[in-house]
Amino acid sequence: MKKTQSESAGISGLNAANWQHVERRQWWLSSSGIAVSLILTLGIVTLLLPAILPDAKQFSYVDTSSATRGLLALIFVFDVYVIFQQVQIYRFRKQLAVREELFRLISENAVDMIALVDVDGTRLYNSPSYQRILGYSAEELRGISPIDQIHPDDRQKVIDAAKEAQTSGRGRRLEYRIRHRDGRWFTLESTASAVRNREGAVEKLVIVNRDITERKHLEEQLHLSQRLEAVGRLSGGVAHDFNNLLGVIIGYGEALQERIPRDDPNREAIDEIQKAGQRAAVLARQLLAVSRKQVLEPRILSLNSIALDVEKVLRRTIGADIQLEFNLASHLGMVRADRGQIEQVIMNLAINARDAMPNGGLLMIETEPAELDYADSLIKPYVVPGRYILLKVTDTGCGMDSDTQSRIFEPFFTTKEKGKGTGLGLAMAYGIVKQSGGYIWVDSEPGHGTTFKIFLPEVEGTPEDVQESAPAFQIGQSRGVILLVEDESSLRKLTKRTLIKSGHTVLEASNADQALYFAKQADTRIDVLLTDVIMPGMNGRLLAEAVSSLRPGIPVIYMSGYDDGELSTKGVLKPGMSILRKPFSRDQLVQAVEDVLTAVTEGKAPSEVAQ
Ligand SMILES: Nc1ncnc2c1ncn2[C@@H]1O[C@H](COP(=O)(O)OP(=O)(O)OP(=O)(O)O)[C@@H](O)[C@H]1O
Ligand SMILES: [Mg+2]
Repeated sequence: MKKTQSESAGISGLNAANWQHVERRQWWLSSSGIAVSLILTLGIVTLLLPAILPDAKQFSYVDTSSATRGLLALIFVFDVYVIFQQVQIYRFRKQLAVREELFRLISENAVDMIALVDVDGTRLYNSPSYQRILGYSAEELRGISPIDQIHPDDRQKVIDAAKEAQTSGRGRRLEYRIRHRDGRWFTLESTASAVRNREGAVEKLVIVNRDITERKHLEEQLHLSQRLEAVGRLSGGVAHDFNNLLGVIIGYGEALQERIPRDDPNREAIDEIQKAGQRAAVLARQLLAVSRKQVLEPRILSLNSIALDVEKVLRRTIGADIQLEFNLASHLGMVRADRGQIEQVIMNLAINARDAMPNGGLLMIETEPAELDYADSLIKPYVVPGRYILLKVTDTGCGMDSDTQSRIFEPFFTTKEKGKGTGLGLAMAYGIVKQSGGYIWVDSEPGHGTTFKIFLPEVEGTPEDVQESAPAFQIGQSRGVILLVEDESSLRKLTKRTLIKSGHTVLEASNADQALYFAKQADTRIDVLLTDVIMPGMNGRLLAEAVSSLRPGIPVIYMSGYDDGELSTKGVLKPGMSILRKPFSRDQLVQAVEDVLTAVTEGKAPSEVAQ
């Protein structure tokens, strides 16, 4: 017959020695009771015998009064013994009750799940924490085989470990996944110890299971962020040097394109070089985003306006098979973010969604205010509680299993066939969102679509003017004297050439000292300082400060795509700076200088200059 849970619970609260003690006392009490009753019966019979059997003369010598006293004494001694035993048993029961209570307290309040199973794996006892952690009631647990709840991939190792514990008597530490009542998978760390019978054979296993789901999750996140950090450092460094080289390739390519007519046999080659240069520039920019080292140009804006801005491009990109829906909150707070970068993130998510729905489906873009509170920070310790704006991108595509989900933000992780994806899309999105002080989370199940959630901190303020793209400029509208500082000589030469061709005068410096020499000449006119940021010796930011102290109010344009913390500590551009991201095209360079000169003519501060 199977033992009930409460019986098993009571039994496991006592040890064998204690039970033997109780049993011995009860035996003593019962046997002495029987012995005393026998003696009493014998005594009474002896006393009554002469009256019952008048012939039994031989018993008449018995002194009735002494016999009665003896019997009374015996009864008295027996009563004392009974009282003594009852007191002992009462004490023992009390001890048992205390132990029982202790066991109940431990098992009910233990964070770990404690189970007792017999050698066949039948459950004998499950602590209440099973219900708390995995959601199953005691009745439900009795109806499910323990092995059925375990993840199919982990079943064999659990069976092997149980067998090992039965044979060796010692269980090893084991990690496996178990299904919560609501279908989620939890990771448990378990240790089994064998309970042996008197013959020394293993008859039960005590299994202590610890829920390590959160720990595993944090470990994975730590590994991921370490990997991302390492890849980021590497790619950031490479991208920085790469940008200078690409600047030269693209710049001279443009110059050649201008000179070589379209029907020239060499023109195709130069066009291809130019295209490859542009593709490489996109890649370098993605690497910088992954490394979280790119310079952001944050403005106060509404995510709704970005979502609506990308709508047209999105519709064109995702194709007619996919239905695109927007569900934007009407009263939405502002965020501080780089418009172009957030657009990039949305585009990347939408393209992924399109690829996940080859036979069509629904792509939904939603915005809503959100609050991340203390409870969220307990689940994800890196979360800073507060008000956020949530951007959700949901698709009804193929979804992802948990293994894929754990890797999607890694640079170069892709499940797409060669040539279809670089695996940088989500790594970039992750970098941009992180650099903007937000979070990006994924929710997905194979066959049930995917939702990406982006939380950006809500900020006070009104949206800053959306910068209209500047009207096509005419070279040479305003001419100025540019102090150009760039240590990379071919890029400097190219930049100088472009500026001169645009009608500007260029003072050329390969380092900060040379630049300061020009700045110190009071009679030398300088309209704009155009400087690289990362240079040997004094860097661009310090140079700008030094030049500004000599020539207060001088507009500064930094040429950089890479921020190693010099321009700001969080990769966010400080007000008052303008930035020309490397690698830049000839048009971008001329436009940036033109914008600054126009702003100065109109009396605007350099920070208001559009990029
Ligand atoms: N919405 C989605 N549904 C299903 N799987 C997705 C989704 N988004 C991303 N993935 C998975 O994540 C992987 C990584 O995505 P990521 O955007 O980083 O790279 P990619 O799309 O493969 O390449 P790239 O974006 O560089 O062209 C994808 O290969 C795909 O397996
Ligand atoms: Mg992608």
